Formats: sequence, C-alpha cells, structure tokens
Amino acid sequence: MVIKNKISKNIYLIGFMGAGKTSVGKILAEKLQLEFCDLDELIEAECGKTISSIFSDHGEAFFRELESKTLRSVSQNGGQIVATGGGVVLRQSNWKIMKEEGITIYLKASPDVLWNRIKNDTSRPLLQVEKPFEKVRELLSLRMPLYEKADIVIETENKSPENIADNIIGQLSDSFG
Ligand code: S3P
Repeated sequence: MVIKNKISKNIYLIGFMGAGKTSVGKILAEKLQLEFCDLDELIEAECGKTISSIFSDHGEAFFRELESKTLRSVSQNGGQIVATGGGVVLRQSNWKIMKEEGITIYLKASPDVLWNRIKNDTSRPLLQVEKPFEKVRELLSLRMPLYEKADIVIETENKSPENIADNIIGQLSDSFG
C-alpha cells in the first residue's frame, strides 16, 4: 500500500457512539498494515474496570481525565489507527494532541442511524437515562460542530465498515497524492 509509507503520524477516528470507530478502525489498520488501538479498551485495561463502572464509581470528570491521559500516552507513538471515544472532542487539549500528532477523520451518521446501531447496547453510561434517544439527539447537536472540525469527514450511512475503510483510504490517497 503506497500511502502506508506516507502515514508516519496517527489516524484518529472520531464520531458519536455507534459511528463505527472501532470496527472501521480494525479493518483500516489491517488494510494499511498499521497498528490499531482503542482508547476505551486501553482505559478499561488500565483501570481493570468497564467504562460503565468507571462512570458509576468515579464520575464522568474522572473518566475524561483518564481519556486525555490515555490519548496523550498513545500519541507518543506514530503509525497507528486510533479509535477514540465519542466525547474525546470535548476538550481543546485533546484536539491539540490529535491535530499535532496526526489526521482526524469524522465518521458521520444521523441520530436515527446512530440510535439504531446502539439502542440494544447497555454499555454506554451516558445513554442509561429515561429518554436515551432524546439524549442522543441532544449530545449530537452539541457535539456536531466539534466533530466537523476533523480533517476528513466520511458519511457512513448505508455503508459497511469495509466500504467505509475503503472510502477513507481513497480520501487519504487524494490527500497524500
Ligand atoms: C462516550 C463514548 C464512549 C465512551 C464513553 C463516553 C461519549 O465511547 O468513551 O461511554 O461521551 O460519547 P464510544 O464512542 O466508543 O461508544
């Protein structure tokens, strides 16, 4: 893969819960023969607790600190596909790291599509509320302007993870010539 040699920094996949950051990231890493890492998985391994338990035992602010710390530590190395958590875009300091250390790619989808992908999954603490779909819409409208700051935006609706990974490679090839 010609562009592999041109990606010396990292590719950060950003987007809302259910955007497909992890599944697309794994396929992309395989296709580009780069390392894959998932911030939430690293946080869980480091703490020996699920994301839900971290939120319930210590609160969201504590999780956000861990998220920033893990992002900083992962970003010491280059040549990786990094699947971030949906809230990584909330901190300016996280953006600074991602913009300095690589390329940001926003995996975009509408609230309805995202909701369909995540509605049966109870592992997302922010959605364990009385009206979770309302919450999805509320959070997404707050975060949309942040996600849109990504270097590359990829529409994910009606596309398989494989398809999305190929779209990303196409865009990267255009960017890197
Ligand atoms: C969050 C998204 C989750 C996880 C945590 C908070 C968010 O990751 O980091 O539950 O604020 O959107 P995914 O986007 O991988 O679900």
